[in-house]
Amino acid sequence: MRVLGITAVLCLLAAAVSADPVRVRQPKADDEELAWWQTSVIYQIYPRSFKDSNGDGVGDLRGIINQLEYLQQLGVGAVWLSPIYQSPMVDLGYDISNYFEIDPVFGTMDDFNEFRDKAHSLGLQVMMDYVVSYTSDQIEWFQKSLRREDGYDEWYVWAVGERNESAPHGYNVPSNWLSLFRGSAWEWSEERQQFYLHSFTVNQPDLNYRDDGVVLQMKDVLRFWLDKKVDGFRVDAVSQMYEAEGFPDELPSGLTNDTEANNYLQHVQTQNRPETYEMIKQWRAILDEYQAADGKAKAMMLEVYDDPEIVMPYYGTPEEPGAQFPFNFYFISQLNAQSNASDVNRAVHLWMDNMPEGNWPNWVLGNHDQPRVGTRLGVARKDLFNMISLLLPGTAITFMGEEIGMENTHVSWEDTVDPWALNAGPDLYESVTRDPERTPFQWNTSANAGFTDEGVKPWLPVNENYLQGINVESELEADLSHIKVYRKLVDARGWRVAQRGALDTAIISEWVFAFTRTLDGEPTVVVVGNLGTDVETVDLSATFDGLPDQLTVHAASISSSTQSGATVSPQSVTLEAGVGLVLVANSTSAA
Ligand SMILES: *[C@@H]1O[C@H](CO)[C@@H](O)[C@H](O)[C@H]1NC(C)=O
Ligand SMILES: *[C@@H]1O[C@H](CO)[C@@H](O)[C@H](O)[C@H]1NC(C)=O
Repeated sequence: MRVLGITAVLCLLAAAVSADPVRVRQPKADDEELAWWQTSVIYQIYPRSFKDSNGDGVGDLRGIINQLEYLQQLGVGAVWLSPIYQSPMVDLGYDISNYFEIDPVFGTMDDFNEFRDKAHSLGLQVMMDYVVSYTSDQIEWFQKSLRREDGYDEWYVWAVGERNESAPHGYNVPSNWLSLFRGSAWEWSEERQQFYLHSFTVNQPDLNYRDDGVVLQMKDVLRFWLDKKVDGFRVDAVSQMYEAEGFPDELPSGLTNDTEANNYLQHVQTQNRPETYEMIKQWRAILDEYQAADGKAKAMMLEVYDDPEIVMPYYGTPEEPGAQFPFNFYFISQLNAQSNASDVNRAVHLWMDNMPEGNWPNWVLGNHDQPRVGTRLGVARKDLFNMISLLLPGTAITFMGEEIGMENTHVSWEDTVDPWALNAGPDLYESVTRDPERTPFQWNTSANAGFTDEGVKPWLPVNENYLQGINVESELEADLSHIKVYRKLVDARGWRVAQRGALDTAIISEWVFAFTRTLDGEPTVVVVGNLGTDVETVDLSATFDGLPDQLTVHAASISSSTQSGATVSPQSVTLEAGVGLVLVANSTSAA
């Protein structure tokens, strides 16, 4: 059903697209003040892989503290940390055993306080990962629930199916539900003589939000970190918070014959239930309460991979607001290395045309769960996709390393640590592993790319391409580099037209996609990119009205023959394979 839904939307949009630019409404009234979470690039740090300060091969808070100036110079406005809480690390920190402590592998609470204070003093906002659907099985709450301690009995989803003498534990499983990491989502507990639900690994039991104690506890978690002056949250695995009561079976999706694979079923009973939208609104009210108290904007962004009719209601309504935004994952789910101009245009419109009026868009290019942009969307197109995602209206979210064009790293079975890959086994692990995009950040050309000390084995292998110029230091020294393009894009995000201008998109040719940002009294910005593998020369003035005779190049892909500072005629813009250009209709504004 939902798969068909998205196809129908796509067909409608495809029919509406022509050579004429398509106007998308202006995102915000011109006089409305914008908050940090609207104008900033939000930069995701995967702490295990950013910088190791103590030579144990794993990144830590001290490493991040020491590199905060790097982020300030990069120009990003907010840092989102993947989980640093106390954890047995079965799911590398997404299995939390204490929400109020920092795991020793990352440091101490004092380190966290120092990180937050230094970030704030450098003008960087701090966003924490809020892991809400499940905990570690080592957390006190689960141990108490296991023992049926008073008040904790129903904190997790406990059940048995029908009595069945021939079943291994004397009962059937309560339903056919599947874990996202393969196999049944139900695990038997000898102690309780019941099954518990785990949407992810068996060591991550799902919390039961139908118990008031859980609701209060998770609100306390939010308040604890708000009291510690964090500025917002990325909410993990939102879709999995609630399940249908009575545990009804799910129907096969028809997408695969692999009965252990999660996508064997359609997740109507286990994902994005109506109660989930309500809980998000309650959490938003808490953020608003803190915002009213200290006058500083707070933001919540949600991890939800789904079709617009499921995702968009997470924005809530003007009367009952939800998240500042659910993540826009359409550049991830809708695009690949073969995508052409109409595919990119469609992905842009899939968000812009479905977003409810008055809300703020966002563009996620990658994260710790997805192949790197160069690997997924094409090595030659790295700069182009940064241009698109940073200069469309709204918030841009950058996964650490995309600013220097990091690529996926081959990780052998022996070196594999991702639990999803380990569950899949040596024959299937490469189809699901997320280790390749999680490898250490590449700082310079010294041993281990400067991530950790020489002679230390990092927790995941370092990509050898750090020796071919893919590292911060080399890129800052080079005349042309991904990081220099990225910094120009961040600069452009400061322009009024980039923050408030209207958007017009156009499919110039099969492979050339372009859009303009326009605002009265401000120089127009044109972003144009050749997604194909052949050189193309295009006439932008045939598509976009009112362009001047000359445009100034503000930023260009590193492989472009035309570089920043040059001027081009909009009637004849030449783009090599994969090349993107950011053009400005007024030379003075590009300085
Ligand atoms: C499932 O198996 C049937 C029978 O072998 C086959 O016709 C069908 O294409 C398979 N479906 C998928 C999604 O692989
Ligand atoms: C673009 O690619 C899609 C598949 O991703 C294809 O369906 C479509 O026909 C292509 N468009 C053009 C104009 O070739």
